Amino acid sequence: MKKTWWKESVVYQIYPRSFADSNGDGIGDLQGIISKLDYLKKLGIDVIWLSPVYKSPNDDNGYDISDYQDIMDEFGAMQDWEELLSEVHKRDMKLIMDLVVNHSSDEHQWFVEAKKSRDNRYRDYYIWRPGKNGGEPNNWQSAFSGSAWEYDENTDEYYLHLFSKKQPDLNWENPTLREEVYKMMNWWLDKGIDGFRMDVINFISKVDGLPDAPAEEGKKYVSGHEYFMNGPRIHEFLQEMHQKTTANYDVMTVGEMPGVNHEQAKLYTDEERKEVNMVFQFEHVDLDSGPDGKWDLRPLKLADLKENLSSWQKGLEHVGWNSLYMNNHDQPRMVSRFGNDKEYRVESAKMLATLLHMMKGTPYIYQGEEMGMTNIRFENIEQYKDIETLNMYKEKREQGVPHDKIMEAIYVKGRDNARTPVQWDDSEHAGFTTGTPWIDLNPNYKEINAKAVVEDENSIFYYYHKLIQLRKQHEIIVYGGYDLILEDNEDIFAYVRTLGNEKVVVVCNFYGNEPTFELPNDIQFSESELLISNYGDEEGTVKQFTLKPYETRAYLLK
Ligand code: NOJ
Repeated sequence: MKKTWWKESVVYQIYPRSFADSNGDGIGDLQGIISKLDYLKKLGIDVIWLSPVYKSPNDDNGYDISDYQDIMDEFGAMQDWEELLSEVHKRDMKLIMDLVVNHSSDEHQWFVEAKKSRDNRYRDYYIWRPGKNGGEPNNWQSAFSGSAWEYDENTDEYYLHLFSKKQPDLNWENPTLREEVYKMMNWWLDKGIDGFRMDVINFISKVDGLPDAPAEEGKKYVSGHEYFMNGPRIHEFLQEMHQKTTANYDVMTVGEMPGVNHEQAKLYTDEERKEVNMVFQFEHVDLDSGPDGKWDLRPLKLADLKENLSSWQKGLEHVGWNSLYMNNHDQPRMVSRFGNDKEYRVESAKMLATLLHMMKGTPYIYQGEEMGMTNIRFENIEQYKDIETLNMYKEKREQGVPHDKIMEAIYVKGRDNARTPVQWDDSEHAGFTTGTPWIDLNPNYKEINAKAVVEDENSIFYYYHKLIQLRKQHEIIVYGGYDLILEDNEDIFAYVRTLGNEKVVVVCNFYGNEPTFELPNDIQFSESELLISNYGDEEGTVKQFTLKPYETRAYLLK
């Protein structure tokens, strides 16, 4: 396996709106980020992934871009961004930018033009179709509820929007559009950025003819994902993109790819094929969803999580590369979802971090994770800001679903769980802003905040720091093979990494029980060293020990 910097890196994601506000308008901004770079350096991360900071009317918090080559007013100016890049590089860190090119904003100049007439030169940058039987061109549903088509009266046609109606899909079949995108990417690459995170990039090739999806009983619109996820020309487009842009720079790429399995991910990430370096897959964050999708709550089974994460570890073992994440700006907070955010918040946050950071792949930390931030329960629906949540609430209320039932799903899965402001200290508004925050804070900031974790040497923050250091000290953590052990154990997720004559044994107690770990007999060694654990005292040895609630240990064996 070829060694590269991005395999050896740990990435930290910033969602700018909620990170740090420098000017008191209640919205995070670029100068706010600059003021926290020393904190990130202290944590030890290598790369920052910046969620979109481009010009945007903010229908979907910046994932609706109206100018790809300018900065959103609330976040600052291009000069602030230049300063950010230079300050990141000065600290020997890297910066990757979000690339959102499945769709633009309807306020992008291209779409403003495209709407003017059917023969406008930008018309074909988007996907337009005449209506069918007095309705939409097909029955696809938008990810944000309702039809995926919006009617334009002026030109008497519909345009496709897989997300909100303010996010029209770009037409990748059009070579001129593709060239425009590559030109824009090169413009950023020439500024010296270190790569891209590519938003729903496996949606850009749609099946010819955009056929109806098979109808589902009681539903007017259905997902239709089989007609645009991993579509017919996706590999061709990604190879062309690579060749015309990133191939000429030493950068990293990660493609966000809902609905990808590890067989497909092999094709996307095989180094020989030159598409992307790694993908964000969704299988493990769908294990607690029922057949009706993310709001259809199901308890997570540990056996499923073990099976799934292990299948990705094995699947991409010799070809390709994994990204490792448990939360981001679209997912609930990981300690609330997979751990215990009450009695064992600190222990379970450290346990989950160990589970992930000891695997093979590039780990991603989402802002606030390093202090163990938790999900939010707002009382009123008006306190929620996320378009996906609000549209879903409205639609379900219209269908007669009781308020309390919808709120329960929002508490567990809503995207605003991850979007409350970062908690910097215990002062008013948690030090996030001196003004009125754009979204309410989690009231637990008095206890859970950056100042507190930096002052406590046993904190989650320093635990992450240690995990990152271990990755730098032990090649086996980056490049070693992976094998699941204790497959049938109902409390423990354990695995072994192997490189040459070294092994790392990782043991994670997933619950509040006190199970006993026994090392399988076929694992031979003559020396063992405890690399990290989340309880101070070490009782027993790697051969056998009883785990405390949410206890985790990783041993190096030689
Ligand atoms: C995925 C992004 O992560 C999410 O926040 C956004 O709403 C959709 N793509 C649409 O851009």
